[in-house]
This record gives sequence, C-alpha cells and structure tokens, in this order.
Amino acid sequence: MTQDDLVLHARDGAVVTLTVNRPKALNALNFDVLHALGRRLDEVAADSEVRAVVLTGSGDRAFVAGADIAAMQTMGYLDALAFAQLGNGILTKIEQMRKPVIAAVNGFALGGGCELALVCDVILASTKAKFGLPEVSLGVIPGFGGTQRLARLIGRNAAKHWVMTGDVYSAEEAQRIGLVYHLHEPGDLMDAALSTARKMAMRGPFALAEAKHIINRGLQLPLSAAIELEAAAFARCFLTADQREGMTAFLEKRPAVFTGH
Ligand code: CAA
Repeated sequence: MTQDDLVLHARDGAVVTLTVNRPKALNALNFDVLHALGRRLDEVAADSEVRAVVLTGSGDRAFVAGADIAAMQTMGYLDALAFAQLGNGILTKIEQMRKPVIAAVNGFALGGGCELALVCDVILASTKAKFGLPEVSLGVIPGFGGTQRLARLIGRNAAKHWVMTGDVYSAEEAQRIGLVYHLHEPGDLMDAALSTARKMAMRGPFALAEAKHIINRGLQLPLSAAIELEAAAFARCFLTADQREGMTAFLEKRPAVFTGH
C-alpha cells in the first residue's frame, strides 16, 4: 500500500469520489492520511474536468473516527499546534475549492471526522452514521475547526452541549439539528451522494463556485455587506459564456451545455 492509497480516488465522468482508506483504524486521520488527502484535494481542484466531489470513508463502519489518538498521545504544545494547523489547512482546501464537496457519512464521524464533514458543502448520511465531538473525553478540545463551525451551523447552545458533553449522536439527531441534509439507508448512501454530485456537476461551474464562496464568506459578514458581495458575484456571472448559454438554452427550450467559462 502506497501513501496515496490512504485516500482512494475514483472518477466517474465529472464526479470524483475520494475515500479515506484506513479502515483498520476506522479511517483515523494521522499525518500521512492528512497529507494524502491534501494531495488528492489539490489534484481535483486543479482538474477543470472535475465538477463535483464526494468524500467518504472506507469500509462500512466509519467515515472518519477522528484524528489519530495514538499519533497525538505523545504530542507536546508545538506538535499539537502544527497538527491543528496541518488539519485546518487541509480542511480549508475543501472550503476554498471552487467545486461542491459532498460528505457521504457512512459510519462514525467523530472528532476530526465530524470536523471533516462539517467543512463539506452538503452532508448526506447513512441511518447508521454517528456524529460527535468527543475530544473532551480525551482531555482536549476539537482542533480542526469543530468548535467554531459547529457553533455557526447549529447555534451556540447546541454546539456547547455537543462539545462539552462529548456525546455521540445518532444520524437522526444530527439531521434534526440541521447538520445532516438527508438520511439514506446504508446501501443507498453512495448512489444518493453520487446522484447529488452529478446533478451539481451539470449546473454552471462558475455559478456553483460563486454560490459556494458567497455563502461561506457571507456567513462571516453583516447581512448588508454580504448582500453587497452577492450582488457583485451575481454580476460576475454575467462575464461568463455560461450565463449566455444557460439563459439561451432556457429560451430555446433545450438543456444547457456549460463549459465553466
Ligand atoms: N485514532 C486512532 N485509532 C482509532 C481511532 C482514532 N480516533 N478510532 C478508532 N481507532 C482504532 C482503535 O484503536 C481500534 O484499533 P485496534 O483494532 O488496533 O485496537 C480500531 O480503530 C477499531 O476501533 P474500536 O475497537 O475502538 O471499535 P469500537 O467499535 O469498539 O468503537 C468507536 C468505535 C466508538 C469509534 C471508538 O473507536 C472510538 O471512540 N474512537 C475514538 C473516537 C474519538 O475520540 N475521536 C476523536 C479523536 S480526537 C480529534 O479528532 C481531535 C481533533 O479534533 C483534531
């Protein structure tokens, strides 16, 4: 097994599936896995033929059961800071990628695994998935953005309940609080994720990228400033051939063929 096998890459037309592949450790994220994920993300970001990404975990037990506890056990302050910065850098690649990334959560998404799902654009999950930020049970706190992204997504009080109890939650509960968009039977999850990815891949790539960016960025700003940014992004779409194609195709009653330009 090479380092690149730690994150598998499968291409189906314009959709790439990335699979974190360390099933014996429930796909826990150590340095090698994080670096392999970073390389895969750089590849798909640079490939203009790829228009949507599905991220999942190998095997039927886990999406990712967290950062690797064995790797962290002996860390000191500087190692821990470097590890958090590495993890945050890799997760930020997903946030900044100008393509949709769909998390297909097929099992445990705990700690760093939950944080990995949180940074994706859409979370779909199997009915058997389990979510949580159990770091306080290990004497630490989430280090890959979990305290901040979860609070922004589900609100301060619910996030504090999650982070400060360290409890593990069912897929149903994760959906109830808005973390998961849709639940699927385990055998249907990948088809559902791929079908969502294919649908997004058929839309205007520039528009998708702008939509993703403006939602992420706008959530960090006051509403009035975010709406101004949205207007500018809307106008940028009118610099593209895809805008002409999308609107012309509608008026000509035919499917649009987008190029991303
Ligand atoms: N790191 C390293 N190894 C892990 C792991 C992790 N996060 N999670 C599971 N494993 C390993 C186990 O050590 C075990 O390995 P061995 O077979 O060699 O003993 C193997 O995966 C299978 O796990 P279990 O035997 O524990 O399986 P289980 O069904 O009894 O329990 C589980 C499953 C509830 C997910 C349990 O494994 C567990 O609690 N894992 C840890 C979850 C966790 O605390 N994650 C947060 C990590 S801290 C973090 O992520 C920090 C951050 O924010 C950056």
